[in-house]
Amino acid sequence: MLRVGVMVSGGGTNLQAIIDSINNGTITNASIEVVVSNNYNAYALERAKNNGIEAVCVSPKDYEERAMYNDELIKTLDSYNLDLIVLAGCMVVLPKELIEKYKNRIINIHPALIPSFCGKGYYGLHVHEKVLERGVKLTGATVHFVDEGTDTGPIILQKAVEVRYGDTPEILQKRVMEEAEWKIMPQAINLIANGKILIENSFVRILD
Ligand code: GRF
Repeated sequence: MLRVGVMVSGGGTNLQAIIDSINNGTITNASIEVVVSNNYNAYALERAKNNGIEAVCVSPKDYEERAMYNDELIKTLDSYNLDLIVLAGCMVVLPKELIEKYKNRIINIHPALIPSFCGKGYYGLHVHEKVLERGVKLTGATVHFVDEGTDTGPIILQKAVEVRYGDTPEILQKRVMEEAEWKIMPQAINLIANGKILIENSFVRILD
């Protein structure tokens, strides 16, 4: 059984998609051991509690120095013996030490088709604003392993989503979530939980 920790910051709809997928058998061989938020007000924490999952907040605001927060975050995650850390709308810049310690064991969802519309400054609604500004016809979502860069790790799954005339960033964000994010994040976890993923240099091979 893959022991999963989910890191969140906000609403937690991706977390909900993972919980639902475990409950309905779309994800097998995985269990969520803990949900960790950097934000006390994250609704994702309620979603965890409502589903009987441990919900913890480690907030940088509670620590004078970033290093102290980083230590506490790593200590908290370590205490759950996790096989996989899932960043599901997690807005925190992860400590370098955490990324090294959990190499190839942290995955993230980005709401665009990497390497487009990603990197520094591309988060939340900004991504969709930039997509609309540029006028591309296709956007989507990407699940990737996390390395030291911003959105640079090996890509696991991507799904394209149509951009339509008259879209606002909010409308597009919703379509990307419904048609792509909530599908490929659970799929990626299921593949990892069932040993179907091999990382060959920067290429992720999916086994049948
Ligand atoms: C999603 O769009 C995700 O791709 C991005 O932040 C948003 C989080 O939404 N990184 P939620 O908290 O899962 O509802």
